[in-house]
Amino acid sequence: MRGFSHRSRMAQMGYRREDFTGKPVIAIVNTWSEINPCHSHLRERAEAVKRGVWQAGGFPVEIPAFSITETYMKPSPMLYRNLLAMDTEETLRSLPIDGAVLMGGCDKTTPGLLMGAISVNLPAIFLPAGPMLRGNWNGQPLGSGTDLWKYWTERCAGTVTEEDWNAIESGIARSPGFCMTMGTASTMTALTEALGMTLPGASSIPAADSNHVHMSLESGRRAVEMVWEDEKPSDVLTLAAFRNAITVDMAIGGSTNAIIHLVALARRRGFDLPLPVFDEIARHVPVLANIRPSGEYLMEDFYYAGGLRALMAEIVDLLNLDCLTANGKTLGQNLEGARVTRHEVIRDREAPLMANGGTAILFGSLAPDGAVIKTAAADPRLWQHTGPAVVFRDSQDMEARINQEDLEVDENSVLVLQNAGPLGGPGMPEWGMLPIPNKLLKRGVRDMVRISDARMSGTAYGTCVLHVSPESYVGGPLALVQDGDPVTLDIPNRRLDLGVAEDEIARRRSQWIRPVPKEHRGYLALYRERVTQAHEGCDFDFLTREETAVDPEIH
Ligand code: FES
Repeated sequence: MRGFSHRSRMAQMGYRREDFTGKPVIAIVNTWSEINPCHSHLRERAEAVKRGVWQAGGFPVEIPAFSITETYMKPSPMLYRNLLAMDTEETLRSLPIDGAVLMGGCDKTTPGLLMGAISVNLPAIFLPAGPMLRGNWNGQPLGSGTDLWKYWTERCAGTVTEEDWNAIESGIARSPGFCMTMGTASTMTALTEALGMTLPGASSIPAADSNHVHMSLESGRRAVEMVWEDEKPSDVLTLAAFRNAITVDMAIGGSTNAIIHLVALARRRGFDLPLPVFDEIARHVPVLANIRPSGEYLMEDFYYAGGLRALMAEIVDLLNLDCLTANGKTLGQNLEGARVTRHEVIRDREAPLMANGGTAILFGSLAPDGAVIKTAAADPRLWQHTGPAVVFRDSQDMEARINQEDLEVDENSVLVLQNAGPLGGPGMPEWGMLPIPNKLLKRGVRDMVRISDARMSGTAYGTCVLHVSPESYVGGPLALVQDGDPVTLDIPNRRLDLGVAEDEIARRRSQWIRPVPKEHRGYLALYRERVTQAHEGCDFDFLTREETAVDPEIH
C-alpha cells in the first residue's frame, strides 16, 4: 500500500515507473534563495547536477534548505548554522533518500550542510557555490569585505569622497558567487575539499566560470556512484582528514571562523579537536596563499594559480595522503600532477607569506578556555603589547561612545567589547574588528589591540583577539574587565592576561550580575538553552553525539 502511494504520487509529478525504479534517489539540497546573492546561480547549477545524476543512472530530487545569507540576516547568521544543520539532517533522514549533493558556500551554509550530513551519515558530496569574480574600481581589484573595511576606514578618516564611495559600492560585487577574499566562505569550501568531501579542485572554481557547470554535473554523477559504493561521511571524515583540513587552513591563512566550524564538525563525527591542536599545527605550517585579507590577491587569481590542489601539492609532506575522498580515490592520488602556475599568488615554501603561526591560540587569565587571533592579519608591532583597557559593555554601548571626542583612548589603549559571544550576541556576531575611534583615524592610527568574545569576518583584519572563552555573558573573566585595567597580549608566548590582582577580581566577581535573557520563546530560546561555547564549536549540546540519527518506527 505504501509503495502504491509513493508511485502514484510520482506519476502525479509526471514520472514513469522506469524513471525511478531501482535507481538511487539523490537529494540535491539547495540553499538557493532570492535574498542570498552568494547563491543566486544555484538554481541553474542544480539543473547541471540533475543532468549528472540522470547520466549516472540515478533519480534526482531538488530539495530547498534554509538559505543562510551573511549579508542580510540579523543579528548574526551564525545563530542559524545549527538550524540549517537540523534542517539538512531531518530532511535527509525523513525522506526516502539514498545520497545527497549539498549545494552551498556562503559562510555558514557549508558547515551547516556538512554537520547535518555527518549526523545522518548517508553518502554525500559537497558542491561549493564558488567565489565571485574580482571586484573592480578604477582598474583596481576590489576584495569583498576586506576593501569595504579598508575604504570605510578611509571614508571615516575623510580621504575617500562620496563619489568614490558610490563607485566602490557598484564595483565590489559584480558576479554570482560568494566573497572572493579568503573569508569564511572561501576558507570553509577549501577545507571541505581538504577534508575530502568535494571532488578534487571543486572549491577554487569561480561561480561564473563554465568549469563550475562542469563540476556541478560531475558532482551529480559521482553522488550516484557513491551510493552504489556506500561511501559515507564517516568513511571520509577521519581524524587524519581533520588534521589535513587544519593544515590547509593554516596554509591558506584561513578565516578564524573555521576553527569554530571544524570543532563543531569534528564533534558531530565523535572527535574532540581541542584548541591547542590548531596552535600545534599552525606552528609548523607556512602561510602560502597570498590572498586578502592576509595577502594581496583574490580567489580568481588563486584559481588561475592552480587552486587548492596546487597549494596542497606544495605542502604534500605535511598532509596525510592516504585519506579517502569523495571521488573514491585518496588525497595523494588527487594531488598527482597538481602544480602552481603563478608563484606570486601561491608562494613557494622558500618564500612564504609567513613562515608559520598564521593563526594563534591564546590562553591566560583573560581567556582560561582559549581565544583566537589571526596573526597573519595583525600588525607585528602589536604582537606583544600591554595597554589600558577601554571597555564597552555591549555593541550598543560601543556604537554610542566609540567616536565621542571625550572618550579616553589613544593608540596604546586596548579596546574591549563584552557581551558579544554565543549567548551574549546572541549568535556571536562578527563584531570583533572593533572600529578604530575616528579621532585616532584622523591621527593616522590604523590598528590597535582589540579583544572580544565575538567573531570577526574572515575578510576582516587587524590585531583582533576573538572568541574569548568562556564569554562575558556567562561570567568569563572578560566580564570583569574595567576601564584602565592593564591588558597584555603576547602572541609569541600565546598569552592573554589581565593585570589585576586576584583579590580584586574576586571582589568584582562577587558583585557581577548575570544578564537576563530577553528571548523566551521560539528558536532563540532553544539557542540560549542549548548552545555550547566557542571552544566547543557553538553546536547544540544535544546534536554533538556521534550516533547516527535513528528512524522512528513507521506503521
Ligand atoms: Fe556570502 Fe560573504 S556574503 S560569502
